[in-house]
Amino acid sequence: MQFDISVVNQLIQERRSIFPVHYSGEPVPRFIVEKMLENANWAPTHRFTEPWRFKVFTGSGIAKLATFQANMYKEQNSGNGDFEESKYEKLLKKPLLCSHIISIGMHRDEKKSIPEVEEIASVAMAVQNMYLTATAYGVGCYWGTGGVTYMEEAKPFFDLEASDKLLGFLYLGMPAKAWPKSRRRPIREKVQWVD
Ligand SMILES: Cc1cc2nc3c(=O)[nH]c(=O)nc-3n(C[C@H](O)[C@H](O)[C@H](O)COP(=O)(O)O)c2cc1C
Repeated sequence: MQFDISVVNQLIQERRSIFPVHYSGEPVPRFIVEKMLENANWAPTHRFTEPWRFKVFTGSGIAKLATFQANMYKEQNSGNGDFEESKYEKLLKKPLLCSHIISIGMHRDEKKSIPEVEEIASVAMAVQNMYLTATAYGVGCYWGTGGVTYMEEAKPFFDLEASDKLLGFLYLGMPAKAWPKSRRRPIREKVQWVD
């Protein structure tokens, strides 16, 4: 196998989270979303459980998701005094800035008895494959864990069972501005070599 390593390095290091306020409103071509999903499916998986489960919302599906999450927030917080109208409005409107939203689910295969943390790790690797594929096509995306992410009652909406987990959402859109820069502390601060 031969790869252009400088391209691989550049792709990994220039991958960025690009947020919905910076999307142009232009749709992401479907073939790119399909390629992202196909590449997600090639993530490493302990005992081939392939635990990633995605639901892709686009077009009127995004409004359905937005209404669902805003209503769930209202239901859960109306009685306890924690309800904020501005948060409700954000849950309702922010998704509409996106071309696609992919819910990120982890499905437990109890029969294979893989530790849950490994299944979550596997799904995260699938998400990284989507991030990198999006970057290669010049598509913006980011993994967000707000809204209904950790609400047990939300799971059925995403076709997840009680033992599954919703890990958040991958928001997608065409970038309206120049590709952003980021920063990292040096890797040597996080590595020990044992010779
Ligand atoms: C598991 C996970 C959850 C995240 N959740 C959020 C989130 O809820 N809101 C947010 O603004 N960014 C979220 N991010 C994206 C980070 O903000 C982003 O990765 C970080 O700022 C580094 O920027 P970069 O991805 O462009 O390198 C999340 C990232 C990961 C890996």
